[in-house]
Amino acid sequence: MAGYNRILFHHNHVPLLQTLKPNISRRFSVARSNLNHHLNNDPESKSRKPINPKPSSFTITEAEIQSEFAHHDPGVARINNGSFGSCPGSVFTAWQQWQLRFLSQPDHFYIDELQKGLMESRTIIKHLVKADDVDEIAILDNATTAVAVVLQHTAWAFAEGVYKQGDAIVMLCYAYGAVKKSIKAYFSRAGGYVIEVQFKFPVSSNDEIVSEFRKALEKAKDSGRRVRLALIDHVTSMPSVLIPVKELVKICREEGVDQVFVDAAHGVGCIDVDVKEIGADFYTSNLYKWFFCPPSVGFLHCRNLPKWLDLHHPIVSHEYGNGLARECGWVGTRDYSPLLVVPSALEFINRFQNGIEGIKKRNHDEVVEMGKMLAQAWGTNLGSPPDMCTSMIMVGLPSSLGVASEKQALKLRTHLRKSFGVEVPIYYQAPSLDEESESMLTGYARISHQVYNKTEDYHKFRDAVNQLVCDGFSCALLPD
Ligand SMILES: Cc1ncc(COP(=O)(O)O)c(C=O)c1O
Repeated sequence: MAGYNRILFHHNHVPLLQTLKPNISRRFSVARSNLNHHLNNDPESKSRKPINPKPSSFTITEAEIQSEFAHHDPGVARINNGSFGSCPGSVFTAWQQWQLRFLSQPDHFYIDELQKGLMESRTIIKHLVKADDVDEIAILDNATTAVAVVLQHTAWAFAEGVYKQGDAIVMLCYAYGAVKKSIKAYFSRAGGYVIEVQFKFPVSSNDEIVSEFRKALEKAKDSGRRVRLALIDHVTSMPSVLIPVKELVKICREEGVDQVFVDAAHGVGCIDVDVKEIGADFYTSNLYKWFFCPPSVGFLHCRNLPKWLDLHHPIVSHEYGNGLARECGWVGTRDYSPLLVVPSALEFINRFQNGIEGIKKRNHDEVVEMGKMLAQAWGTNLGSPPDMCTSMIMVGLPSSLGVASEKQALKLRTHLRKSFGVEVPIYYQAPSLDEESESMLTGYARISHQVYNKTEDYHKFRDAVNQLVCDGFSCALLPD
């Protein structure tokens, strides 16, 4: 795991988290001087920085990386970047600078600065995802908000008689729990019918997913239902699997599905994203998970924008009716600072060899290596072949741990955090009735890899589980 020892950078950066020191006046003077520095620079010039920089002659050292993440609790092996992402110290400082810029002169900030800053972030996103036009990019808080934008639109289509009662939405059985609730709140409540595409986990090939997806669409056709929307995860959350979205979008087009929405909450920074190649109508990704932004910022890309003039942010404010991107840029008085630090996150990323592409590849390689190491140590298996995982991978837990329900999976996760200082989400997989199923494991850990992780983090997890096995532990022993 020496992969990050020779990483390239080409900027000086603010020493780590001076701002976290308890001395408040010092804190503000540092932020103020950084702010002045920032104000004296042309903000437009930042967005001209390359998305994928050419290697330069400087390297970000392992020590500098650890310093950027020195605010992480040193007692915890944090192998769960997937849930809440991570924000380096230099980006945290830039975030505070935006807050100070707002607080120091709110009227000036709102009237003269905010929209320019949002445009800069949107321009970077446009290049990252290879979109045609910056107008196609609306910047918003997170994937949950993007899902609400699209599903609210479907609810209106039912209310206005564009959709008929019983028209369908197709989604994967492993769609994110909160997204399923959004479907219930907007689509089902308005009279829509939900079709879930089932596929087995562990999964061994894309074909398994593709063929189940086709079957679900055929079933809809046979029952005379019109499929209005397919909502497809790019990377499912739990269990985590990379989904062949390009292929599924193509099938949707062939089968006459009206619209396709790709939920890539784990998108930019975690997997390759080319919205034109993917070809969906809507594509959302967070930037706080794998692009080093603070919580919370994400975006929604809408292809063929003129078609979507009636797409609205669920919070209606002054910009209502002026296009989604503008609506998202003004959702009432609030703190917009996380949406403005995208250029600073890119600056951090560009200190690494091959920028985000390099980070993504190294994370993938490392997480596969660590996943194999754990599966071998415990005599278990991975949840998917390496090419179906991203910077996250599912690793089977020894069956003697007795994970027998979702509740127990959650309790085991808490136990690992509190008793062993390991933060890792645990997935419960109901036993398969299929006798041909390769694996009878009921518990899987989703491990992540991000630039700050070290081999020791995964060894700590390995040893904690070995200790539990050795002690004859079973989840049933954990108190309620
Ligand atoms: C697939 C998927 N969709 C949606 C979400 C929701 O993301 P957020 O909480 O940032 O809105 C997540 C969160 O991890 C997710 O994994």
